[in-house]
Amino acid sequence: MEIIDSPALMTAWADKTRIAGKTICLVPTMGFFHDGHLSLMRKASDIADEVVVSLFVNPIQFGPNEDLARYPRAFERDSGLAEKAGISVLFAPKAEQIYPTGFCTKVCVSRLTETLCGLSRPGHFDGVTTVVAKLFHIIKPHYAIFGAKDFQQLAIIRKMVTDLNWDVRIVAHPIVREKDGLAMSSRNSYLSLDERSQALCLSRALQMAREEVANGETDAAKLIRKVRDYITASGDVVIDYVAIVTAGDLTPCTRISNDSLLALAVKIGRTRLIDNTLLARE
Ligand code: PAF
Repeated sequence: MEIIDSPALMTAWADKTRIAGKTICLVPTMGFFHDGHLSLMRKASDIADEVVVSLFVNPIQFGPNEDLARYPRAFERDSGLAEKAGISVLFAPKAEQIYPTGFCTKVCVSRLTETLCGLSRPGHFDGVTTVVAKLFHIIKPHYAIFGAKDFQQLAIIRKMVTDLNWDVRIVAHPIVREKDGLAMSSRNSYLSLDERSQALCLSRALQMAREEVANGETDAAKLIRKVRDYITASGDVVIDYVAIVTAGDLTPCTRISNDSLLALAVKIGRTRLIDNTLLARE
């Protein structure tokens, strides 16, 4: 595995690889790898000849009162795990290599960013699309894989790629969960033992909602109320949102159908967690 920090060297590697007729799959990450990341890397190896993992804690996607300074970092451990996963390149630039002095461009997808997480994290998705656009230009991947836990991010990136005629195929990877149902996230490392068990209210609320739908519930407003009540009853947690939207365009649903997606953001102590599920009515 090569470790590259310079964007110019990364692009030289990508050009050479493309000229050799090989396909590249990018796994964009902010590091602190868990099994979810490793499973993205395995999927990437299945679909392309070469896998590039980017490891970059992107400062511009964090708001002023968010967790940029304390975001977990473990470069040695991460590079060991990436090497073991058999990836070709770990691209780990420094902030000043991605945003040199004078950088003043922003890639912004409207509408899809103005709902759900976009409401409580203004500017967050502009930071994401700007860095992902840069990564696509630097690494020139044929494929890029994103986890479905950040389903809004996934929808926004798909829209950016379609709107800008980008020649990269976006691949979604299902949410990877701990044995007890908690969706894997680098931010789970912030949770105390008590908070860790409170955090189970997210996946359990999703399970409860799936059961309600299987038992015939079709009214989105009623289901949202039940989910909110369930979460509120499960401890000292603060709901950011509970929403039922159409999976592709994130517009709110009134009646539940097979492409309805239930999405949650909940604060457990100081940690904001997200989770989601499709509400198939089979
Ligand atoms: O999902 C993430 O880890 C980040 O938002 C991403 C896509 C790597 C961009 O910084």
